[in-house]
Amino acid sequence: MSVEQENAAVGAAEENPNILEVRGLKKYFLIRKEWKLVKEQVPVAPQAPAEGEGEPAKAEPEAPVEAAAEPAEAAKTAPEGGEGTQEDPQEEAQEQPQEAFKTKHKLEYRKTYVKAVDGVSFDIAHGETLGVVGESGCGKSTMGRSILRLHEITAGSVVFDGKDITKMKASELRKIRPQMQIVFQDPYSSLPPRLPVGEIIGEAVKVHGIVPKSDYRDYIISVMRKCGLQDFYFDRYPHEFSGGQRQRICIARALALKPKFVVCDEPVSALDVSIQAQIVNLLKELQQDMHLTYMFISHDLSVVKHISDRVGVMYLGNFVEMGSKNAIFNSPMHPYTLALLSAVPVPDPHYHVNRIILEGDIPSPANPPKGCKFHTRCSHCMDICKEVAPKFIDYGNGHLCACHLYPQEPPAPQE
Ligand SMILES: Nc1ncnc2c1ncn2[C@@H]1O[C@H](COP(=O)(O)OP(=O)(O)O)[C@@H](O)[C@H]1O
Ligand code: SF4
Ligand SMILES: [Mg+2]
Repeated sequence: MSVEQENAAVGAAEENPNILEVRGLKKYFLIRKEWKLVKEQVPVAPQAPAEGEGEPAKAEPEAPVEAAAEPAEAAKTAPEGGEGTQEDPQEEAQEQPQEAFKTKHKLEYRKTYVKAVDGVSFDIAHGETLGVVGESGCGKSTMGRSILRLHEITAGSVVFDGKDITKMKASELRKIRPQMQIVFQDPYSSLPPRLPVGEIIGEAVKVHGIVPKSDYRDYIISVMRKCGLQDFYFDRYPHEFSGGQRQRICIARALALKPKFVVCDEPVSALDVSIQAQIVNLLKELQQDMHLTYMFISHDLSVVKHISDRVGVMYLGNFVEMGSKNAIFNSPMHPYTLALLSAVPVPDPHYHVNRIILEGDIPSPANPPKGCKFHTRCSHCMDICKEVAPKFIDYGNGHLCACHLYPQEPPAPQE
């Protein structure tokens, strides 16, 4: 990083400590559209009473009920309106059984969405690493991609370096693209097989004009060296490399664009354990060297612990707990975080850990449970958990948690 860039980065940090501010981010995937034949019970207009018997009961309108969520409910409650009937209660009781319902069939157009990210809000400060953990399918990758606008988001805002990128046009977005990069999970599928390494790393450098053409080769080789790749790899092809080397190529490709913010989406999950530490250490060194900010996504808590400053725990499209690394690992609050931590293996044969086994599978994000989304698997579940979603509250020092086991009002600020 040049002196000017460093000064600019420091200046930006002084103005706003956060490089990224995400508010109410939602990403729903439309997975099914279908016409469905649904049955509904509609009341039949009662027979007109004989003359002089009093006013006839008003019939329920026969207009089709839109999106009849609970036709059975509607059928149960509709007659209780008793609209306009002046009859004797005894007579009414006799008449009630005569009130008939008929089954109607109607077509409804239904759309089913997977709520992959369901309203997340958080900040990332300049130069920090936010680790994101959670089971497979909880929405980590979707969140990472949505932040970079690789997905069009459903709702919310993402402010990167003071600019709301969710409102940017494609041309504006193209200009800031180099500043926000991603390293994908699978180094095998994320490299084009027919391009030599130099071109893979340099393709976007050329497109965005990161360095003058005359410096191109030297610049790419300097980035390769930084990422632990030898100079002569420049003309070799991806299939000639191991998984760890390929991931170094992916990292070099991202960093060659001089980004400010990098989403690392499980960058070591596909690698051997022995290589994982090398890559994580490389990312840490490069972060210091290039003043980078990371969002580090992983399902492996020990890796996240090694690299993160703060950690967010995700479950079914939402954060359930977030805080400093020490807070999450030494004083976790949420039952889900406790269960995840209890599953981390400890390399000590004398260490006994009470493993918390979560029952059941993660529910479908297309039909998440009501109230607290974790209630179907939580051993502390209370009645309120099944009805009311807990608030994501800061319980001090930026340690946030969403759980009814804790007060649902933020603690009073200390004098
Ligand atoms: N392109 C897509 N279309 C439909 N559903 C998707 C798509 N991408 C992800 N999903 C769904 O969104 C949910 C979250 O996926 P993902 O973000 O990949 O989870 P994670 O990275 O935590 O494993 C999953 O249920 C997944 O099936
Ligand atoms: S809100 Fe209730 S169900 Fe959810 S994690 Fe807390 S105790 Fe468990
Ligand atoms: Mg993923």
